[in-house]
Amino acid sequence: MPADFDTIVNLSKKRGFVFQASEIYGGLRSAYDYGPLGVELLRNVKEQWWRSMVRMRDDVVGLDSAILQSPEVWVASGHVASFSDPLVECRTCNARHRVDKLKDPNKCPTCGNSGTFTEPKEFNLMFKTHMGPVESEDNAVYLRPETAQGIFTNFENVRRTARMKLPFGIAQVGKSFRNEITPGQFVFRTREFEQMEMEYFCYPDAADETFDQWIATRNAWYDDLGMDTTKLRTHPHSEDELAHYAAGAFDIEYEFPWGWDELEGIHNRTDFDLKAHMEHSGEDLTYFDQESDSRFVPYVIETAAGATRTTFAFLIDAYTEEEVNGESRVVLKLDPRLAPVKVAVLPLSKKPDLVETTNKVARALRESWQIEVDVTQSIGRRYRRQDEIGTPFCVTVDFDSLDDNQVTVRDRDTMAQDRIAIDQLKSYLIEKLPS
Ligand code: GAP
Repeated sequence: MPADFDTIVNLSKKRGFVFQASEIYGGLRSAYDYGPLGVELLRNVKEQWWRSMVRMRDDVVGLDSAILQSPEVWVASGHVASFSDPLVECRTCNARHRVDKLKDPNKCPTCGNSGTFTEPKEFNLMFKTHMGPVESEDNAVYLRPETAQGIFTNFENVRRTARMKLPFGIAQVGKSFRNEITPGQFVFRTREFEQMEMEYFCYPDAADETFDQWIATRNAWYDDLGMDTTKLRTHPHSEDELAHYAAGAFDIEYEFPWGWDELEGIHNRTDFDLKAHMEHSGEDLTYFDQESDSRFVPYVIETAAGATRTTFAFLIDAYTEEEVNGESRVVLKLDPRLAPVKVAVLPLSKKPDLVETTNKVARALRESWQIEVDVTQSIGRRYRRQDEIGTPFCVTVDFDSLDDNQVTVRDRDTMAQDRIAIDQLKSYLIEKLPS
């Protein structure tokens, strides 16, 4: 049975995936903290993205640029002038809404009254703060609304130092901030979030082909990590949906419990950003092509995914309720590469010699994987708890283990059990747990 929204939110809170930020103070709307399991899942999603986008490729390198940049960056990129949403306010209840997201443009979704909105005003989504002790306009800086601009401003630094030749990409994972008018749907749209972005610099006449290749590559990533492909679709932007920098754009969308919504944007940014930074900074960001003996500004194909949003989608996608021997069980069928805990080691009882062997087994496995030891409650309940957080394998240490030096390994999905010698356990698990 597919997950409904409230079930996933409740599981996330109950099991320690995600907590409301500042919960003890009543919570800060649209900011979230990732708990012990959530931080592992989020890290694994980012790690898998980095692995496929950087480590496994010889044409993409990484970067970690600052969140705070010169305000000139955001003038050049067009964010100061045009990174805004149209905002209206209800004259009856004062609730604020994005006019382009209203189901009925004449009806306030908060109070239900009709025809009572103020004229739409463009509301800039960037968070503004001040650098240093003086709160003046001269010291104003912005929290970055996308990681992409740090890549463009470092284009020449990276090209020169890493000796990259076209076509090549620069990838970055990090926090971005947007003062969204209507945050919501749990961690789907928040004001602080994490992105996984890659800017691929190419010859202008190869841009269309490169664009198509990246759409295929990025779709394959979700598929490879086990996301249900019937819940994925690629949706082209119409002219009026295009961002100010894009000549073409596709969204990879997932069918969330509330309907289809964006997971990742793939954009043909042309030479817009490099040219804009050349004009504003006065620096030469052209590329010298030895073969044609010419200089030009490369085109850019961007793949822009949300790390926090994608993590949420994997969680929803993995949630399964099934019946086993007349009893229902909840199991997160996460790909083992994403599972927060890879192996749980469980002594059959709390007897000291069983616990001692359990700890010894766990210690040996910890060198390779995230391990959990659980000694409380019946073994059946402990299995169910591990199923619910997506642990691919449970290793049970029982009384026979003390004599035969073997343990029982239970598979999360099939629930099949294998008896394995403790000294063979690591190599058994290495085969089953891909990196
Ligand atoms: N550099 C291009 C860019 O930022 P975008 O489509 O605005 O493009 C890329 O953002 C991705 O970042 C989105 O597809 C989404 O996954 C994520 N994202 C954007 N705004 C978000 C928000 N408020 N909360 C969570 N994730 C967000």
